[in-house]
Amino acid sequence: MKRSFEPELMDSPGVDGPVLETFHRDLIFVNKVLGTFPTIERFLRQSDPAVRSVIDIGCGSGALLDYLRRRMNVEVLGVDLKPWPMAEIPVVRANAITEPLPEADAAVTTLMAHHLTPEENIALIRNAGRSCRRFLIHDLIRHPFPLAAFSLCIAPLLGKEAAADGKLSVRRAYTPVEMSEMVRTALAGTAGSFTIDVSRFLSRQVVDIRF
Ligand SMILES: C[S@@+](CC[C@H](N)C(=O)[O-])C[C@H]1O[C@@H](n2cnc3c(N)ncnc32)[C@H](O)[C@@H]1O
Repeated sequence: MKRSFEPELMDSPGVDGPVLETFHRDLIFVNKVLGTFPTIERFLRQSDPAVRSVIDIGCGSGALLDYLRRRMNVEVLGVDLKPWPMAEIPVVRANAITEPLPEADAAVTTLMAHHLTPEENIALIRNAGRSCRRFLIHDLIRHPFPLAAFSLCIAPLLGKEAAADGKLSVRRAYTPVEMSEMVRTALAGTAGSFTIDVSRFLSRQVVDIRF
């Protein structure tokens, strides 16, 4: 399956107000179906010393950080190009690819890597490594199986914009091989290492980078 370069509606500057709100609420639902928040928690708990502070890059609604704060008692800070006024966690407005990031024990990002080009993902990983010792990248996988599963089981439950963007997201996503190649390039010449975890049925991948 060839990677799509068609832009997602969510990335257009005009998307704001009630449409953006519906997007964020639908993304919370999608993350629930994918089990994203417990997955990120499980990875973060595998840490010695324990993770005490977390930034979420492209935090959107902020729901992941709200969950982690309640479950793990960690300090949290969201980073987003377009902070959502209704987020219940502190959020700084920044371009996470080009601007300095806040310092934290760990950075996470969910459902964002497929919005970026390979060059942008490489720059993002290097940028996260300047302020965090760990970076978890959670994203979809480009494959006909998750595309069919999303189209049949999840899209009908979403607003029409998120349903269309969701299908496009799977078609824009990186395969685990492509993702690994980007991470390898970003870490070349450094002491950093990574593992990649692919879920059963290919619903998601998690890259766990230690700088
Ligand atoms: C698809 S949403 C994912 C939101 C959230 N992580 C989730 O799982 O629901 C992507 C988010 O990344 C943000 N974003 C995109 N490019 C960014 C960048 N270069 N720096 C910071 N945030 C960015 C967008 O504003 C948007 O909120």
